Amino acid sequence: MTTDLSPIDRAKFVAAKRAALEVKSGMKVGLGTGSTAAWLVQCLGEMVRDKGLSIQGVPTSSRTAALAKNVGIEVISLDEAQTLDLTIDGADEFDAQMNLIKGGGGALLQEKIVATASERMIVIADAAKRVDTLGAFPLPIEVIPFGWQTTKALVEETLIGMDVLGRTTSLRMNGEAPFTTDEGNYILDLHLNRIGDGRQLSLVLNQIPGVVENGLFIDICDTVIVGHGDGRVLVTDQDKEGVEESRFDFVEKDNIFADMDG
Ligand code: 5RP
Repeated sequence: MTTDLSPIDRAKFVAAKRAALEVKSGMKVGLGTGSTAAWLVQCLGEMVRDKGLSIQGVPTSSRTAALAKNVGIEVISLDEAQTLDLTIDGADEFDAQMNLIKGGGGALLQEKIVATASERMIVIADAAKRVDTLGAFPLPIEVIPFGWQTTKALVEETLIGMDVLGRTTSLRMNGEAPFTTDEGNYILDLHLNRIGDGRQLSLVLNQIPGVVENGLFIDICDTVIVGHGDGRVLVTDQDKEGVEESRFDFVEKDNIFADMDG
């Protein structure tokens, strides 16, 4: 059945499996959101169950909270944890400086708060998430529902002065209704194609009334773990020279992950 896993799922799985090795008993761990982070939660759940790993997890979404509880991870709130040893999360894009676009799953606000409260952030991803310049993936920003159309117009006006290639924005939908985040907010997706200066854009967007947070993670990520469909894993760390390469094989019991939903 593991052979049924697509190469992309294998890549996500091995990245998650390698990242799980960074988690030690006693740690308070931020648990990301999305399909790659869901593999991680499954791996940690397995380590809790079979290897006596003892951790407390702070989920970045209600979806991840439900999954973590389901696999036997003790879940606490960020207020209970206050600070975290490590956060492991996926990303929609990362560049050579380990700056990120996140929020494809709509959880960017909690993800950014949790990652920022952590000593270390590890991103787990398949190789397709690596880009030379951020921006091909639409940049999500979380906005409050009150006056969202006014906020959208202000964002579009602001983008005129920014180093970006596209300027259209769209309200993220869930069927006929706006998609709402765990905080009850809306998401605007900014189709920028290329972001010349992510740091400046992030600062400027967060000045706009109605914008709660944006999906640019600048200087937050410390380590990127990239999985490949053939089982290879490449680890790049801000504090270490070079790239560490390892390989993970698929075994039959990995089947338990095959029907997982991110
Ligand atoms: C959710 C996120 C996810 O980490 C991002 O969308 C990547 O998801 P996936 O691992 O499913 O590709 O930012 O808000």
